[in-house]
Amino acid sequence: MPKKYIVKKQGKYFPSREMKEIAWVKDEKIYSDAGKNPIKFWEELAKKGINWEGNWKKTYEEKLPYFYWFKGGKLNFCANCLDRWIKKKGSKTALIWVPEPTSEKTIKITYKQLHDRVCRFANVLKKQGVKKGDIVAIYLPMIPEALISMLACTRIGAIHSVVFSAFSADALKTRIEDGKAKILVTSDGYYRKGKKEDLVGKANEGAEGTSVKKIIVVPRFGKKISGNKLLDFNEEIEKAEEKCDCELMNSEDTLFILYTSGTTGKPKGIVHDIGGYAVQAYWTCKWNFNLREGDVMWCTADVGWITGHTYAFYGPLLNGSTSLIYEGAPNFPNAGRWWEIIEKNKVSVFYTAPTAIRMFMKFEDKYLKKYSLDSLKILGTVGEPIDEDAWNWYLEKIGNGRCPIIDTWWQTETGGTLINVFPGIGPFVPTIAGKSFPGTKHIIVNNDGKEVKEGKAGSLVQVSPFAPGMLHGVYKNPKKYIETYWKRFGKYYDTSDGAYTKNGLIRVTGRTDDIMKVAGHRLSTAELENAIASNGKVRECAVVSIPDKIKGQVPVVFVVLKKGKGDASLEKELVSHVDKKIGPIARPSKVYFVEDLPKTRSGKIMRRILKNLLANKEPKGLMTLVNPEIVDKIKKIIDEKIK
Ligand code: PRX
Repeated sequence: MPKKYIVKKQGKYFPSREMKEIAWVKDEKIYSDAGKNPIKFWEELAKKGINWEGNWKKTYEEKLPYFYWFKGGKLNFCANCLDRWIKKKGSKTALIWVPEPTSEKTIKITYKQLHDRVCRFANVLKKQGVKKGDIVAIYLPMIPEALISMLACTRIGAIHSVVFSAFSADALKTRIEDGKAKILVTSDGYYRKGKKEDLVGKANEGAEGTSVKKIIVVPRFGKKISGNKLLDFNEEIEKAEEKCDCELMNSEDTLFILYTSGTTGKPKGIVHDIGGYAVQAYWTCKWNFNLREGDVMWCTADVGWITGHTYAFYGPLLNGSTSLIYEGAPNFPNAGRWWEIIEKNKVSVFYTAPTAIRMFMKFEDKYLKKYSLDSLKILGTVGEPIDEDAWNWYLEKIGNGRCPIIDTWWQTETGGTLINVFPGIGPFVPTIAGKSFPGTKHIIVNNDGKEVKEGKAGSLVQVSPFAPGMLHGVYKNPKKYIETYWKRFGKYYDTSDGAYTKNGLIRVTGRTDDIMKVAGHRLSTAELENAIASNGKVRECAVVSIPDKIKGQVPVVFVVLKKGKGDASLEKELVSHVDKKIGPIARPSKVYFVEDLPKTRSGKIMRRILKNLLANKEPKGLMTLVNPEIVDKIKKIIDEKIK
C-alpha cells in the first residue's frame, strides 16, 4: 500500500504522521524564528546549502530600489550543480529525458556524464569567443542540451538568456537585440503532437541582422547540420576538450536574464544574480517538495519560463537530485502519456500548472486508471490561481487522496517560490497559497500602502529584507525597474497581484495590471496590441482578456481597420500575424471588427467597458466617453458573433 501523506481533520487537510516522519520542516516555529532575524536566517541557509569559495563581506545590503545578498562572496553556480556531487554520486542520474516519439528511448544522464558534456560545451563556447559577462541566447525545446548549454554558460561566467521555443522568429529577434548575444544555441527542431516542428529556420530568421555571429544547432532529427553561420552541436562537443575550470564569480554577478511581459509593448529582461538565486532555489526546492535521496522530481514547465529554470533544472541539481523532463505534448499519443511517464520513472514529486490540470479533467478516467501513480509523494501547482474543482480533482485523481498539494505563488521576478505551505506543516487548503517562506514577508496593502485587515482585498507586496532570489533590475532599463516595482509603494516591492488573507493564510487572486495568464503563460495586452497594430490594415486595436475554462484566460481583440470591413479571412490573417510577431500562445480567441473603440476625452481606450460588454455586464463610465454611441454598436457586433 502506498503511504498516505495527508489526513483530513475538520474538513481540512494536514500532513499525516508518515509525512511528518520524512518532512524537512515540521515545526511552525521556523516562521517566528526566521522572522526575528531574517538576515541571519538566510546567512545560515546560504552557508549550509551552497559551496562558497570565498566569504562575503556583508550578508545583506539595501539601498532601495537595489539590494544585495552575500556581496563579495565567491562561488561558481555550475560547480554547485555538478562538481560538488560527482565524487560521491557521479553515477547517480541527474536528468531523465523522455522524448515525445514513443519509438525513442528515455535517456538517463548521470551527474558525471552531465559534467563531462557541460565542460566540453563550455569549451565550445570559449572557442567561439564567449567570455565572462557575455550573453548567450538559448532557443531550445525540452531536450538535455538546453540544460547542458545553460550550465556551460554558468561555468564560464557567461549569462544565459533563454527564449521559449514556441516564440516566433520576431520575438526571438527582439530578445537577441536587447541582449546583444553573439552566440545562439538552438536545435533543428523538436517533436510536438507527433509532428516535426522547425526551430532552426525560425532561429536563422530571428538572428538575421543581429549581433549573433554563430548559431550552434543541436541535430535533434539526427541529420548533419550545415549552413552559413551554423555549427553542429554534437560535432563541436566531440572536438572539445573535456577539462574546463570553473570561473570564480561574485555572488552579485549576473547568472541569467529572462524576458517576461510587462505592461508595455516590449518584454523586460529580468536580471538574476548568482548567490542569492542559488540559495533560494536550493532551499525552496528542498523544503517545498521535501526532496530526499532517491526522489525523482518532474516539473512540467518549459525551460523558456522561470519555473523551468528553477524547478525543472537548477533546484533539483543544486540538491543533487534527479529531475525528469519531457519533450512533447501532454496528451500525445493519448491522454495517458503523463501518467505513464510517472509510473515508468517512479516520479515522486510532480509540479505542474492549473491549466494542465483543467485540461486533463476533461478526459475520460480510463487514461488515468491504466497507470499506477503510487510513486507520488508531493504534488505542486504554480502559475495562476487554482480553482477548487481543479484542486480537488488533482488531490483525488492524481494524488489518490494521499499526497499534499503545495500551491506555490511566485513570479519570474522572484526567482524562486515565495508563498506556499510546507508538506510537513500544512494546512492544504484549496485555492490558498499559504504563508511567506520563512525569512521573507508579504503583506496586503490598500492604495495608500497601509496594511489591510484579514479578509480585505488589496495589493500583495513584499517587505524588507527582500528575498535573496529577487531580481536585480531590468536589463539596461533602470527606469522600468523603478517604475514597475517601486514607484507605487516606495519601500515595498509591488508584485502587481491582488490578494487577501484567510485564517492568516494568503490567497492570491490574480494580476491587477494588464497582464494575462493564458494557459499559464504570461502575456501583456500591450504586447499583443502592438503585434496586431503592426499589421498594415489595422488602424488601432484593443485587447482584453476573458475567462476560459481550460486556459484560465484568453485574449480577445477589437480591431478598427484603416478601410473596409473585416471578414473571416482577415481574422485568419490577423491570427497568423500574431503567430509571426509573438507565437501561437498569444493567438486571440476572437477578433471583433468595430468602427471605433470607446475612448475618453484624452484619447484613452476604455478596455474596462469592452470587458464588461463581453461579460454581458452593464458597461459603467459611459459619461466619460467622447463616443458613448459606439458602445451599443459594439454590443450588437458581440451579440451577432455569439449567435
Ligand atoms: O499573478 C501571479 C501568477 O503568475 C504571475 C507570475 O507569472 P510568471 O512571472 O510567468 O511566473 C509564473 C511562475 C512562477 C504572478 O504575478 N501566479 C503564479 N503562481 C501563482 C499565481 N497566482 C496564484 N497562485 C499561484 N500559485
